[in-house]
Amino acid sequence: MMTESVKINIKNLGLSFGKTEVLRGVNLNIEPGELFSFLGPSGSGKSTLLRAIAGFGPRPQGNIIIGEEDIVQKPPWERNVGMVFQSYALWPHMSVRKNVSFGLEERHVPKNEINERVEEVLEMVDLLQLADRRPSQLSGGQQQRVALARTIVVKPRVLLLDEPLSNLDANLRIEMRREILELQRKLRLTTIFVTHDQEEANTISDRIAVLNHGIIQQVGSPLELYDKPTNRFVANFLGTVNLIA
Ligand SMILES: Nc1ncnc2c1ncn2[C@@H]1O[C@H](COP(=O)(O)OP(=O)(O)OP(=O)(O)O)[C@@H](O)[C@H]1O
Ligand SMILES: [Mg+2]
Repeated sequence: MMTESVKINIKNLGLSFGKTEVLRGVNLNIEPGELFSFLGPSGSGKSTLLRAIAGFGPRPQGNIIIGEEDIVQKPPWERNVGMVFQSYALWPHMSVRKNVSFGLEERHVPKNEINERVEEVLEMVDLLQLADRRPSQLSGGQQQRVALARTIVVKPRVLLLDEPLSNLDANLRIEMRREILELQRKLRLTTIFVTHDQEEANTISDRIAVLNHGIIQQVGSPLELYDKPTNRFVANFLGTVNLIA
């Protein structure tokens, strides 16, 4: 399952919907194997930035380099990036196994290799027992794991997660958080995790970029952001008590 971890460099990225500028001067260096979060309030541009990396939405200005390659001109299917959407977007008429194997069939992977890889991934996310069920016969957390399995089985170079836990209740969120982190560490897969929940970002991330109005306010480890917020917005958003005037 292991692939080589890659870095992501984003250089001076800007993006507009029509005349509305949504991302401005975004510069980011994400390390190979890092779990990196985009944190910010609703409308701050987190999903837009994530989707731009995956190749969805309007063509941005600037560069997105994955590994050594600038992929900003490439269509989504040539980027080798795996994205899990908030809605999971599973195929309702297909079994869990089929949902997971589908992407490999599309890529014409040989049948016995498909079977092997699907088993391995289902085992990893603890879904082997439920492989023949349909999504409607699963809990929210189980569906979330199918979405994750389906994304990692094709061995993407980068994993993008857009608020993957927001449909789950509080206890399950905490459990799934831990499971995502474990899986990410095991695969050493460079991962970007989008959330508007600062506690979630703090518990899961190596580093966080705080966004507001499409501008990165600060990048740092959870501790750095808490200890040394660069501005009032970051301090407020992370709930820092000591606001330095
Ligand atoms: N297709 C679109 N057309 C026009 N404007 C858009 C479009 N998609 C998003 N926007 C605008 O871009 C800005 C950023 O949206 P985005 O979805 O990236 O925010 P977000 O940080 O992911 O918010 P949330 O936490 O609510 O998901 C918002 O002001 C939004 O209204
Ligand atoms: Mg969003």
